Amino acid sequence: MTGSRAKSFRSARWYGASDLRSFGHRSRTKQMGFSAEDYAGKPVIGILNTWSEMNPCHQHFRDRAEAIKRGVWQAGGFPVEMPAMALGEPFMKPSTMMYRNLLAMEAEELGRANPIDGLVLMGGCDKTVPALLMGAASLNLPAIFVPAGPMLRGHWQGKTLGSGSDVWKYWAELRAGRITPEDMDGIEDGIARSAGTCMTMGTASTMAALAEAMGLTLPGACAIPAVDAAHSRMAAASGRRIVELVLEDRPIRDFMTDAAFTNAITTLMAIGGSTNAIIHLIAMAGRAGIALTLERFDAIARTTPLLANLRPAGQYLMEDFYDAGGLPALLNALGRRLDGATPTVNGKTLGANIAGAAIIDTDVIRTPERAVKPAGGLAILRGNLAPAGAVIKPSAMEPHLLRHRGPALVFGNYADMAARIDDPALPVTAESVLVLQNAGPKGAPGMPEWGQLPIPKKLLTQGIRDMVRLSDARMSGTSYGACVLHISPESYIGGPLALVRDGDLIALDIAARALTLEVGEEELGRRRAAWVPPKPHYERGFGALFTAHVGQAETGCDFDFLTGTRPVPEPEIH
Ligand code: FES
Repeated sequence: MTGSRAKSFRSARWYGASDLRSFGHRSRTKQMGFSAEDYAGKPVIGILNTWSEMNPCHQHFRDRAEAIKRGVWQAGGFPVEMPAMALGEPFMKPSTMMYRNLLAMEAEELGRANPIDGLVLMGGCDKTVPALLMGAASLNLPAIFVPAGPMLRGHWQGKTLGSGSDVWKYWAELRAGRITPEDMDGIEDGIARSAGTCMTMGTASTMAALAEAMGLTLPGACAIPAVDAAHSRMAAASGRRIVELVLEDRPIRDFMTDAAFTNAITTLMAIGGSTNAIIHLIAMAGRAGIALTLERFDAIARTTPLLANLRPAGQYLMEDFYDAGGLPALLNALGRRLDGATPTVNGKTLGANIAGAAIIDTDVIRTPERAVKPAGGLAILRGNLAPAGAVIKPSAMEPHLLRHRGPALVFGNYADMAARIDDPALPVTAESVLVLQNAGPKGAPGMPEWGQLPIPKKLLTQGIRDMVRLSDARMSGTSYGACVLHISPESYIGGPLALVRDGDLIALDIAARALTLEVGEEELGRRRAAWVPPKPHYERGFGALFTAHVGQAETGCDFDFLTGTRPVPEPEIH
C-alpha cells in the first residue's frame, strides 16, 4: 500500500518521517527480521492475543494468531501479535471481574502507545470479551473480534455434560449422596474435552453471541467450535477483513450504536443468556457514550421469546447450536424484533448477513411460535432492598418460587456461608431466603460469581433443589436457580442488604418486579445508624485502585475515569 492513503495511516507517524525516532522504529522492525517490503506503507494490524497457560479456554490461540496473520498478509497488511492479560476464569481469584477493567485499559493503551492502525481482538473466556471491546471502544480504531469458540460437548457414562451447569448439578448430587466420589472423578475427566470456552450458554457463549449480534465479528463466528477447522478459516478471514476496515477507515464505535446495543439486548433474551451480560453491555455502552438503563433490559425481556434451547435454561449445547444453524439462524427467526439496518464489520448490514439463514434443527433453535419460553428471560427487580436494582433469571428457576415470602437466613460473607451451610443445626427450611452480604463490587471484592449459594445439605437430602437466594454478587452464566443477584447499592457500602437480620421477612414477586424487606422504616433507620463500615480490603496496589474507582452493578462496574468518550491525546513522538 503506497500513496496518499498510506501516509494517513496512524502508523506513518512512527515509520514515515525522516528523523531520529523514525530511524529507530524502522531499524528495530528490521531487527525482528522484517524488511521494508514487509511493512512499509502497509496498515499495521495489532493482534491482541489473550493466550496463556493459565487460560485453558484459549489454548488454541497461538495457532489462531497464525491464521489471523495469514489473512492480514494476504490482504496487504503488516500483522504484529501482542500478548494481553488472559483472565482465565477457572483460576483467577478473587474474581476475573476484578481484572476486566484492567484488561480493558491494557487493550486501549497497547493500541494507543504503539504504531497500530487496526486491531484483531482475540478473546472468549468470559470477561475477555467485554474487556477487549471496552478498550477498543475507548481507543476507537478499526477493530474486529475473533471469538475463541466453544469447547466440544462433555461426556460421562453415556450422558452429555455441559460446562458449569453439570458441575453444579452433580456436585449437589454428590453432597446429597446420590452419586459416588468415583462418579465425580469420571465427570472430572469428561466435562472439559478440548480447547474452547464453556459450551453451555454461559457468559462466554453469551458475550460472543452479543458481539456477533452487534456486528463486531464476522457473521456466524460466535458458535464455531474452537477446534473445528472452520474456526481457523474464520480467523484468517477476520485477518483479511481488518485490513479492509482500516482502508475504509471504519472505527469500531461506528458499529457500537444505540440500535446495535438494543439488538444485543434482544439477542440476550432470545438466547437465554447470562445475567452477567447486563453489567458488561452497560459498561461497553458507557465507553461508546450510550446510556443503557436496567429498565431497557426489562422492557425487552418482557416481549422477547427464548429461542435457543441451550443449557442452563434449555437442553442442548453450543456444538448443537452451531450444527442447527448458529446465531444467524436464530437472529433471522427474530425477524422484526431486530433492527436489520445496523452496520457490521463485514461491510454489510445485520439484516443482509442473516437473510436466508435457515434453522437446521428446530428443536435446538426454535421459532417464536414454538419458543422455549414466550418471554421473560431476565427480570429487573426493585424495592426497599434494592433501590438501584437487582437481577434475576426467571427462565432458570423453579416456577413455584416466582412469588415467594420467607424468613431471611443471613451470612455476613462467603467464609461465614461456607462454614455454616452444611451444618445439620442450620435453622433453615425450604421457605427460608438465604442472604449473602459483602459479595459485591467493593465488598467481596470484585463481585465474584457467588450468587448461586449452595442449597444446604440438610435440604438437599430432603430433595430440595431450588430456593430463593439473595446477594450483591454475580452468578455464573452456567448456573440456575432462584437467585436474586447484583443487589444495589451493595451491602459493603451500606446498602439496605447490609441491614437484613435473621428472621426478617423478605418478599419476592417476579410478576410485580418487586423485592421487599418487610421491616418498618423506623427499625431500618435504627439499624442504619448502628451500621459500621467494614475495614478496607487493600491499602495499596491494584486492589486499592479498583476499590476507589469501581462503580456499582447498574453502572456496569466500570472505573469512573474510564467511562465516556472524552478524547485522550495521541502520544507525542519525540
Ligand atoms: Fe473460560 Fe468458562 S472458564 S469460558
